[in-house]
Amino acid sequence: MTRYSRITGTGSFLPPRRVTNADLVAELAAKGVETTDDWIVERTGIRARHFAGPDVTSSDLGAQAALHAMSAAGVSAGEIDLIIVATSTPDMIFPSAACILQNKLGIAGCPAFDVQAVCSGFVYALTIADSMIKTGSASKALVIGAEVFSRILDFNDRTTCVLFGDGAGAVVLEASDLPGILACDLHADGKHVGILCVPGTVAGGRVLGDPLLKMDGQAVFKLAVGVLHDTALATLEKAGRTAADIDWLIPHQANIRIMQSTARKLKIPHEKVVVTVDQHGNTSAASIPLALDAAVRAGTIRPGETLLLEGVGGGFTWGAVLLDF
Ligand code: UT7
Repeated sequence: MTRYSRITGTGSFLPPRRVTNADLVAELAAKGVETTDDWIVERTGIRARHFAGPDVTSSDLGAQAALHAMSAAGVSAGEIDLIIVATSTPDMIFPSAACILQNKLGIAGCPAFDVQAVCSGFVYALTIADSMIKTGSASKALVIGAEVFSRILDFNDRTTCVLFGDGAGAVVLEASDLPGILACDLHADGKHVGILCVPGTVAGGRVLGDPLLKMDGQAVFKLAVGVLHDTALATLEKAGRTAADIDWLIPHQANIRIMQSTARKLKIPHEKVVVTVDQHGNTSAASIPLALDAAVRAGTIRPGETLLLEGVGGGFTWGAVLLDF
């Protein structure tokens, strides 16, 4: 019998401090940085985001999301045999946020590691977990996207600081006789490193280079629309399905205009696109599982429906996962 992987529970967690556009506009104005609610809403669709407190880490947010996902799946911590955390804002340089989170959940022994693919991180992590389950290396995996992007934002740069937020989303992925995950498609092209990066590093006890996020928004926008379309089509083709089979498109929540344009190209009506960017901003690797969990808990996504998850981000990285929920 073929062994598949299937999502059996979802969870998410947002830090309590919600910052509306009006709050952010006022905070930025106090330091001489000019922006408006109108500009942010019109160009991005973002109305609010959550920011974590100074002592809160990605593993803190991820552990809360994981607890909600395990509770939804009816799985106890002791049964988990794989933990993958997608993050670009880990707690430490090492060890991984996954190991720190594993300990916070009281789990020991199972493999735990981080995946660094920026905003495509969750799609990468889900693909890896699917492969490990299909080959028998794991049976009950926690796949988590967790970020504190507020830590790497330059609040003097209005072109980036209004876009991002903090949060975490998680799924429990279990071995199953029925699919589950139908097809995955991952890509990267390192020649685009410079258009979206945090170029700094740590050496000799000092931060070298700029440790804050840099983005050429227009270049990212153009590339994103093209690769998201390509990866959606490639994933559908691998599964022998068409865009008409998709009940819900769950794109990386970066910008409502990119999401609408991706859906339009696939001829998916906008009512079938899960949108949380208005309330969460861009939470990088956390955005897809956060959106998934919000739609599941709202009763919008129902068991048996077909979902296309797709991500794009720094690297450049992109990819998609098609699944029956
Ligand atoms: O998660 C990884 C993926 N990331 C993304 O997908 C981001 C992709 N890019 C985008 O979402 C958009 O390019 C942005 C939202 C970042 C920018 O939107 P845009 O329509 O491409 O604007 P723009 O960069 O062309 O800037 C238009 C104008 C500029 O002024 P001038 O030169 O026309 O006078 C900017 O200086 O808007 C100005 N501007 C702002 N004005 C008010 C830029 N940021 C702001 C701001 N408030 N926050």
